[in-house]
Amino acid sequence: MSARFSIIELPKTRWREARALRLHALQTDPSAFASSYADELAFADEVWLARADSAERHAGNMTLFAELDGELVGMAGANWSQREKIRHVAHGYGVYVLPAHRGKGIGGVLMQSLLDELARLPQIKKISLQVNSESAAAVALYEKLGFATVGIARGELFVGGRYYDLLYMERKS
Ligand SMILES: CC(C)(COP(=O)(O)OP(=O)(O)OC[C@H]1O[C@@H](n2cnc3c(N)ncnc32)[C@H](O)[C@@H]1OP(=O)(O)O)[C@@H](O)C(=O)NCCC(=O)NCCS
Repeated sequence: MSARFSIIELPKTRWREARALRLHALQTDPSAFASSYADELAFADEVWLARADSAERHAGNMTLFAELDGELVGMAGANWSQREKIRHVAHGYGVYVLPAHRGKGIGGVLMQSLLDELARLPQIKKISLQVNSESAAAVALYEKLGFATVGIARGELFVGGRYYDLLYMERKS
């Protein structure tokens, strides 16, 4: 079943919703992210404000959100350095859809929209990301979008008393 959702950049005024969604992600899927709930609960409001600000794109950060019936239900972000030698690489992060809204195509459209936006930035030549090797849905999503696994870091993530491997995936922009 396809849901009627929109992909948006968030007005700064809605930063509290972005914070709530991100904290929800860190609680529901702790093994999917390098940050922990406790790490980000401690962030000052200014950090969330800056993250929600679409003007941040000029500083090397972009976050897209999926909105359904006025509620944020998913997000996907990318950042990139301004440094001359590595400014051609964007790093995907924070890809998340609320559990109740998964399997409706939202994650796929979010990621494709992020890739489309990155393709409009001429300096970006490739997109890299890291994903828990056991996050089957995310790995399948990235493969479907043309990402290939180029490496694996063993035991890179320690969550809930056990270690997880991280896949390094990338694709051309
Ligand atoms: C990964 C995630 C964002 C996918 O979001 P979603 O809205 O459910 O994805 P979609 O419905 O758009 O599915 C897109 C593709 O993802 C893959 N996929 C999604 N759910 C899947 C599942 N349960 N098993 C296998 N593949 C799956 C498929 O390739 C699917 O394409 P298809 O429908 O043509 O088969 C979501 O499962 C999620 O938030 N997971 C927890 C957080 C996470 O792991 N984030 C990644 C951090 S690196």
